[in-house]
Amino acid sequence: MQGFFTYILILIIASPCLCIRLNVGTENAIINVMQFGALGDGTSDDSQAFASAWDSACKAGGTSTLVIPAGQLFMVTKINFSGPCTAKMNIQLEGNIVAPSKEAWKLDGTYWISIQYVNGLTLDGNGKGGIDGDGSTWWQCESCKRPKVYVLYFHACNDLIVRNLEISNSPQSHVSVNTCNGATFSNISINAPATSPNTDGFDISDSSNILIQDSNIKSGDDCIAVNGGCSFINATRVTCGPGHGISVGSLGRSGERDTVSDVYVQNCTFIETSNGARIKTVPGGSGYAKHITFDQIILQ
Ligand SMILES: *[C@@H]1O[C@H](CO)[C@@H](O)[C@H](O)[C@H]1NC(C)=O
Ligand SMILES: *[C@@H]1O[C@H](CO)[C@@H](O)[C@H](O)[C@H]1NC(C)=O
Ligand SMILES: *[C@@H]1O[C@H](CO)[C@@H](O)[C@H](O)[C@H]1NC(C)=O
Ligand SMILES: *[C@@H]1O[C@H](CO)[C@@H](O)[C@H](O)[C@H]1NC(C)=O
Repeated sequence: MQGFFTYILILIIASPCLCIRLNVGTENAIINVMQFGALGDGTSDDSQAFASAWDSACKAGGTSTLVIPAGQLFMVTKINFSGPCTAKMNIQLEGNIVAPSKEAWKLDGTYWISIQYVNGLTLDGNGKGGIDGDGSTWWQCESCKRPKVYVLYFHACNDLIVRNLEISNSPQSHVSVNTCNGATFSNISINAPATSPNTDGFDISDSSNILIQDSNIKSGDDCIAVNGGCSFINATRVTCGPGHGISVGSLGRSGERDTVSDVYVQNCTFIETSNGARIKTVPGGSGYAKHITFDQIILQ
């Protein structure tokens, strides 16, 4: 009998939690949200499991990979992945994340999923992962109050890499890049219908050295908007449409001086967009937009 209990005790100690503990502090910690109680059933709120998994990964040493596994649908009401982290962070997002129903949105901020104060992060969907804002219920009534939210909000993240990911159906804008220096977005697919109001693809502000490449952006508003405080922003081999094209601005909205410089849009294709290249200002605004290049663009 005693041997039996010892056996059970060993089983308990040798549970996945031990593996997590062993991994922490080593070169490669692999931390799966399922080990933190995520259900991935598409209806239960997995926010807390994601938050705990992130904390554990972020506090580790070496390189941490937060795994959101393929073949599951994770409903989360809110995610706030915040640094600074002691580990170098990777997020492997092979599963799908879906927003809650309209009633369950937490309208206490400007984002649904935020990643803040993390340097050197790689977020890779491996061509399988997706984030779905489930915005259709918000679009039906254009005059109704909608959350001014981003599906994905990067704030104060330097040397960021995001790739092979699909982001769709935001109630409003899709991806915000704010106060970041150094980011490369590759093979990003953004998908929202032409009729969805104000669904910008990328909104970039107060950021430098940002590259968006080899991506496909379908939306109801700007494909990419480069806002005040930006310099060295590139879009290369991006296909836009439907939508409103690639825009600098609107500048001057805040009543303060807005400045944008060194924007390079190269080899981009615009299919059935209302505009291709635009620079927008609001009446009474001040500042400048300079060194703006649109090169080898195709308008269909
Ligand atoms: C996100 O979490 C961090 C750390 O807990 C906190 O400082 C920050 O205010 C949170 N952000 C928002 C907008 O809730
Ligand atoms: C790009 O992403 C798509 C789906 O999001 C995927 O099918 C494709 O394999 C990805 N390309 C690369 C080079 O990973
Ligand atoms: C943007 O393009 C310019 C001109 O081709 C290049 O000099 C610069 O290094 C590029 N920057 C980024 C962040 O890709
Ligand atoms: C743009 O397209 C031209 C012509 O197809 C090609 O020579 C050039 O290498 C491309 N540049 C980029 C940055 O993709």
